[in-house]
Amino acid sequence: MSTAPPALGVYVHWPYCARICPYCDFNVYRHRGRQAEQAALVDAIAADLVAHRALAGDHTLVSIFFGGGTPSLMDPADVARLIALCRRLWTPAETVEISLEANPTDAEAQHFAALADAGVTRLSLGVQSLEHGALKLLGRNHGAEEAARAARLARGLFPQLSLDLIYALPDQTPGAWAAALEKALTLDPDHVSPYQLTIEPGTAFDRAVRRGTLIPPDDARGADLYDVTQHILSVHGYSAYEVSNHARGPAAMARHNLVYWRGEAYVGVGPGAHGRLRRDGGWVATEAARTPTAYIQALSDKGLGHAQVDILTAQDRAEERLLMGLRIEEGVRWDEIAALDLHPGSERIAGLAAHGWVRSDAHGLRATPEGRRLLDGIIRTLIV
Ligand SMILES: C[S@@+](CC[C@H](N)C(=O)[O-])C[C@H]1O[C@@H](n2cnc3c(N)ncnc32)[C@H](O)[C@@H]1O
Ligand code: SF4
Repeated sequence: MSTAPPALGVYVHWPYCARICPYCDFNVYRHRGRQAEQAALVDAIAADLVAHRALAGDHTLVSIFFGGGTPSLMDPADVARLIALCRRLWTPAETVEISLEANPTDAEAQHFAALADAGVTRLSLGVQSLEHGALKLLGRNHGAEEAARAARLARGLFPQLSLDLIYALPDQTPGAWAAALEKALTLDPDHVSPYQLTIEPGTAFDRAVRRGTLIPPDDARGADLYDVTQHILSVHGYSAYEVSNHARGPAAMARHNLVYWRGEAYVGVGPGAHGRLRRDGGWVATEAARTPTAYIQALSDKGLGHAQVDILTAQDRAEERLLMGLRIEEGVRWDEIAALDLHPGSERIAGLAAHGWVRSDAHGLRATPEGRRLLDGIIRTLIV
């Protein structure tokens, strides 16, 4: 009996946004006035996928993720073209999860039916909040009722609906956040990703914090808000299978994210996209040229979107596996972290286990829910 080739996820980065949000430090560019560039980018991404097939070899395609930026601004025909290409290049699993990140504006919602027809099975909707004041503060280009409308429409069109929310806003009380989260759950999502607002260096919010005009909650308030999040989602039947990801049952877990957290191979195409591929018995990291023009140029010059591959040493790979594996409930296997000299008898692990922050068994090591709140410190203790 032949065994299926190893699992593969494909990440497609679509870097354009209608408006750049003041808190965001993703690799993004204004959408308007770039029609020719966008058409060239679709062709470049398609060519990069073909080149990646030659590099990565055959795999079982388990997921495709259109992330951004705002891939809901893509022409659904281009989305369909890239999906069909991936399915031709690799061996599709019986079910291939196809996710796409969408902004909840009325204009974009008009394309949802066509995106579902194109093969998208999971819409990740960037609702962020359903409160007028919060959306204004976040500089979003949609209102609360508009976002709810988009979510209701998506609920009827896609097998899986995920909502992104941002909390820990200035002056947000646990009570106000609880009410906002409860309101979002009335939209019936399968999956919820609540992110604490992070002040990213170089963003407009970073400058406002420095000027003293924006004051994010302190750590104690942040911890209270995190507790509220965990409590409400668990009461409503969403399990915290990762630090910021909650699913209504195992079938609602994001297969694509599990590719990252389980250390499976993934191809990254589009400007600035990262990939991890097996090569010569080890692993390599790829990073595509960052700007759309540099990426398109790289494809035309070399037929490949990334300039170089970094070979990961056994130590690099084990550190990465520890970082990613401890974020999810299922943890990391012993053989994946052996290069860090971590094993069931390690003193470093015993110390953390005594605090109730990690647990180990014959399979491997996992962080407890309390431990997952303290991951940075735990990782610093484990990697010496
Ligand atoms: C790359 S964005 C793409 C989604 C889509 N463009 C949108 O904005 O709705 C993915 C998610 O990251 C989250 N995010 C981005 N910047 C953040 C920040 N500084 N703090 C917390 N969450 C952030 C938002 O929830 C957003 O939905
Ligand atoms: S949060 Fe989303 S819409 Fe806003 S700039 Fe970032 S990627 Fe674009």
